[in-house]
Amino acid sequence: MLNTTAQPTTAQPEFDLKQTIGIGKLRGFWGLMTGFRGKYLVSTVSMGIAAIMNTVTFLLLAAFIDNFLDAGERTIPLALYVAGFLGLAVIQAVATFNSRRLAAKTAEGISKRIREYIYDHIQRLSFTYHDKTQTGELIQRATSDIDTIRRFFADQAIEAGRIVMLFIVNFIAIYLLDWRLAWFSIIIVPIVMVISVFFFRRIEKAYEAYQTQEAKLSSTLQENLSGVRVVKAFARQEYEESKFDVENKAKYARGRYLLLMHALFWPITDILCAAQMLGGFLFAGWLAINGEITVGAYVAYAGLVVWIIWPLRNLGRLIVQMSESLVSFSRISEVVKEEREPVVEGSVRTDKAVKGEISFEDIHFAYAGTDRSALHGVSFSVKPGQSVALIGGTGSGKSSLVNLLPRFYEYTGGRILLDGVELKEYPRHYLRRQIGIVEQEPFLFSRTVRDNITYGVTREVPDAEVEETARAAAIHEVILNKLPHGYNTLVGERGITLSGGQKQRVAIARTLLKDPRILILDDSTSAVDFETEAEIRQALRTLMQGRTTFIIAHRIQSVMDADLILVLEHGRIVQRGTHDELVEQEGIYRRIYMAQTRLEAELEEELNRV
Ligand SMILES: Nc1ncnc2c1ncn2[C@@H]1O[C@H](COP(=O)(O)OP(=O)(O)OP(=O)(O)O)[C@@H](O)[C@H]1O
Ligand SMILES: [Mg+2]
Repeated sequence: MLNTTAQPTTAQPEFDLKQTIGIGKLRGFWGLMTGFRGKYLVSTVSMGIAAIMNTVTFLLLAAFIDNFLDAGERTIPLALYVAGFLGLAVIQAVATFNSRRLAAKTAEGISKRIREYIYDHIQRLSFTYHDKTQTGELIQRATSDIDTIRRFFADQAIEAGRIVMLFIVNFIAIYLLDWRLAWFSIIIVPIVMVISVFFFRRIEKAYEAYQTQEAKLSSTLQENLSGVRVVKAFARQEYEESKFDVENKAKYARGRYLLLMHALFWPITDILCAAQMLGGFLFAGWLAINGEITVGAYVAYAGLVVWIIWPLRNLGRLIVQMSESLVSFSRISEVVKEEREPVVEGSVRTDKAVKGEISFEDIHFAYAGTDRSALHGVSFSVKPGQSVALIGGTGSGKSSLVNLLPRFYEYTGGRILLDGVELKEYPRHYLRRQIGIVEQEPFLFSRTVRDNITYGVTREVPDAEVEETARAAAIHEVILNKLPHGYNTLVGERGITLSGGQKQRVAIARTLLKDPRILILDDSTSAVDFETEAEIRQALRTLMQGRTTFIIAHRIQSVMDADLILVLEHGRIVQRGTHDELVEQEGIYRRIYMAQTRLEAELEEELNRV
């Protein structure tokens, strides 16, 4: 079998976007170009060469008209003119191509780097950040906003160089023809600048509103797709559609406003540029008629003036488009500025495995952004290899309690000690390698069953070991007999859908293969039937040996063997002890126990009767 266990390397990109982002927008753009500045420079120089060749063509044309067509004595042969025109055209083409090629390389390179960084960064943000951020919002920033930056470097950045080059070169060329013409040709420059800046501010605002709305729309869509079953089950399609409609209409309105701004900007500058050009033609014509310039000069000017107006028009376009890039840049920086969860800090040596002695000392915990505590003064301790069961009503804080162990969230008061050292001293990376957690709602990737089971380990896993683990999680038979391609069956969105209980068992196998010192089973047998639960329990009993285990369960059978049972209510431990102790006491535990045994007795009676 192919080795599919190798994990993609998530080497940290060597480029630190965060530093670049920190120094402000325009300098930030310069910072983004780190490593690509040489290419960009060559690209700009090529653009300049192309611009010069273009201009020289017109000057050559002037010479051709004045010294060849219109002259009595021809000092330069026709062939040389032809060769000159051809040569200029070829150099111009090659230079343009080279410039475009390098610009594309720069743009793709920079956007790839940002994408890599953002992807890596998002993975390292804390649970608290992900709790409060919509997926659609992140997707929007990681795709559309990065693409806007890419366009900036592919077109606008290079265009800036080109504009400056063309303007200077052509201004000089016209100046050489006639200095009055040169100054006359740039009368509108300040006007275009003022108008561009005016629109720059408006388009910047409009684009920001547009991008924000687009993110809202994709979040709505994304949530709707994830919840498609609920929508159908409750027959709420129309409601969802109208909700989507509202966001969609808002996006339409903002998009229309944005386009309106563009639509206003273009004709205004176009009219100005046309007027400038016309004025230039008339002025140059007047000069030519009065014999102040030659016919050749007039023809050359007619060609050149186009190339001085063109950069002007594009300067406006550039300024306006830059406003969009700046918006995307700051949207990306918002994500980049979020603090990462440090995974390697901490003073504990990480070359040995932990023993698994855990003690909670007066732990208080509240989720960020809420004022109600999820845990109040929780204290207990457990020796290596022992098991703790948590039982209690829904929302009583069981998941919150175990989620503190891998440092998914930071407790707000008290201390948690692992092997006598406070949890904060353990690097998260190391800690999470020591802890195996089967989540309440396990998530499987759209990969094969085998890939899902081996997800947590980086080494190569022999088939026999995968199967053994699957057997322990009571899923081996199902994989072999029920799935079309056995361990190679694709599951999730690209493949077949597993039932809730099957998913849970694959998740158990995934965690067992990781062979953690501390095992957390958060309600991981809630979606399986009685018989399967007994089967898993049996398997787990052997596997739990030597591991400190936390079991959250609703059935007394699952928790009665635990060394310590904690009964939680509203984030507090209200009862503690072993099963035998707790059934003797008046309290919640006994009530649950009685209710469940009564239920079972009734069931048994019923079965005996048939
Ligand atoms: N990510 C979160 N952000 C804010 N509050 C949360 C978060 N997760 C849980 N809570 C709140 O914390 C409290 C305890 O929730 P917790 O998930 O620990 O309950 P539980 O005992 O695991 O319940 P269940 O048996 O239903 O799984 C609840 O009031 C819940 O609303
Ligand atoms: Mg829970």
